[in-house]
Amino acid sequence: MSTLAYFGVEGLDRIISQGMVYGSQIMVHGDTGIGKTVLAGEFIKEGLRCGDVCIYVACDEPPDVMRRHLGGFKVGTRAYEEAGRLVFVDAYEEEASPEKYHIADQHNLDKYFALERELVKRFEGRRIRLVVDSLSTLFTPLDSTEVMEFHRTRLKYLRKHGILALDVFVDGVLDGRVMTVASHLYNVIVRMKFGASENRPVRILQVGKVRSGKFSAAPYMFGISPVFGIILAPESEV
Ligand SMILES: Nc1ncnc2c1ncn2[C@@H]1O[C@H](COP(=O)(O)OP(=O)(O)OP(=O)(O)O)[C@@H](O)[C@H]1O
Ligand SMILES: [Mg+2]
Repeated sequence: MSTLAYFGVEGLDRIISQGMVYGSQIMVHGDTGIGKTVLAGEFIKEGLRCGDVCIYVACDEPPDVMRRHLGGFKVGTRAYEEAGRLVFVDAYEEEASPEKYHIADQHNLDKYFALERELVKRFEGRRIRLVVDSLSTLFTPLDSTEVMEFHRTRLKYLRKHGILALDVFVDGVLDGRVMTVASHLYNVIVRMKFGASENRPVRILQVGKVRSGKFSAAPYMFGISPVFGIILAPESEV
């Protein structure tokens, strides 16, 4: 039987119950500053907790930002890195990167995919979760045919190798058609956006789709706590 996989976010795992197994791919998309990177951090934390090898590809900020972020949640990344349980890929600083794993040109999708496959091979036989934050950054200047070809091949490869992958997309960066076509290839879609409730700005999260699983598409309000991370307000459907 397939092993169920969890986000590590209480309310969210309830919404997606029975929906995620290793080999699933998740798209997280939303406004800038909404909390996508915080959600990605929760996903990594859960992976470390349950014994997965976690790979975090940093495209928008240096990997140290995520190291510090996880440190803020009392996750000592250094020990995990030394134990080969956590790997950072720097796709941000390019040639200036001090990291062992880095991409010299963040828009060279072939080189990127080669590194991803190298890491998958290195940890073959282990449960792997992979986060790319954000994939839209790698795609931005490229031709949509090239992007879609890479995207299809890559997701097929990750599925075949049982990788639990979370790809972050910043809304408004890619053209709508590319986003729509790209989204069809994911098993789970989490949409995060700013909204208003009684004229107060609020953060809203919605599960857009779970292929072959039960889910609620209702929008939920959530907050970000410096202690607990993402918290879905119970009974907060807006
Ligand atoms: N440990 C924390 N405790 C409390 N708030 C936090 C913490 N970390 C981040 N935040 C807040 O969460 C918000 C969302 O941050 P986050 O970096 O996840 O956004 P994002 O969706 O990834 O944005 P972008 O598209 O710009 O990368 C920010 O306003 C930030 O101040
Ligand atoms: Mg971010």
